[in-house]
Formats: sequence, C-alpha cells, structure tokens
Amino acid sequence: MPSWRHLSHLVRRFVGSLWPGGPAAADDAWATGSLVPGEQALWRRMSGPDRRHAVGVARRAEHALGQRATRPVVAAALLHDVGKVDSGLGPVRRAVATVAGMAGGHEAAGRWRRRRGPLGRAGRYLCHDEIGAAMLDAAGSDGLTVAWAREHHLPADRWSVPADIAHALKDADDD
Ligand SMILES: [Fe+2]
Ligand SMILES: [Fe+2]
Repeated sequence: MPSWRHLSHLVRRFVGSLWPGGPAAADDAWATGSLVPGEQALWRRMSGPDRRHAVGVARRAEHALGQRATRPVVAAALLHDVGKVDSGLGPVRRAVATVAGMAGGHEAAGRWRRRRGPLGRAGRYLCHDEIGAAMLDAAGSDGLTVAWAREHHLPADRWSVPADIAHALKDADDD
C-alpha cells in the first residue's frame, strides 16, 4: 500500500503534468545532442510534461555522476519513460491507470496490455518499462540505455546496470 507521502507526491506530479509545455529550447537542444538519431525520433514522440520530467532527471543524474554520466547514461535518464508514448494516455487517465495498477499489480497489467480499449491502454502505460526497452533496442540505443528502461521500476537487487550509475539514475527520478 502506498504511503501518504507517496500519494501526495503523486498528486503534485499530477498537477504539474497538467501544464502541457515542453522543456526550454536550450534544454531540448542539450537533450537531443545526447541522443542518437533513432532516439531523437522517440524523444520527439514524448509529451511536453514527459520531456520536462526527463530533462530534470538527466540534469540531476549528470550533476551527481560528473564524468561517469556518459552519453548512454544521459540517454537512459532522458528516455527511461519513453514506453509511455505507446499508451496514448494523458494525465487524467494515467492517474486512473496508476490506481488500477496499485489494485491489480504488475502481473495484471501484463495481461491487460494486449487488450483493446481503455484497459489495454492502462496495461501498456503500466508496462512502459518493458515496452520502452523494446523501443530503444529497435532505435539502436546502447545496452545500458535499454537495460535502464527495463529495470527502472525493479528493486535494486534486480538491476544489471552498474550500481553507482543505477542509484544515481533512480535518485534523480522523482516518480
Ligand atoms: Fe517509469
Ligand atoms: Fe521517471
């Protein structure tokens, strides 16, 4: 069961996500400069709020890691949530999907994602980690970038990404 702190954090994220704009032009240019062409195409499919979130994660991760924030690490920070584009859900229906996911669990989401209609979209939203990893693999991303998309909601003992990098990416991710 989520704590009240987590719930109030989700509410704040939700309110922030209602503002549709993307990151500042300079931030967007910095982001695309860290992405290979296939990743840039995925970046452009992400919503404004998702790109704002991603730039924040990448800036914080780069600040924490310094020289170890290599291009694939920055790409991992920018594109860890890219699988959310597949669901086509806006902020309100994402909130509903999140609550459904809390009730049904990740296993149920895995069954829902193949269905049509709203339940299918909710399932794909909740499985954005696996879906994003497959998209990045197809886009020619580095193995670390693909791995972090797949692993960013898993417990630390299941990460294959080097621990120092993974912890910095997780700490930088405020969701
Ligand atoms: Fe995520
Ligand atoms: Fe995130």
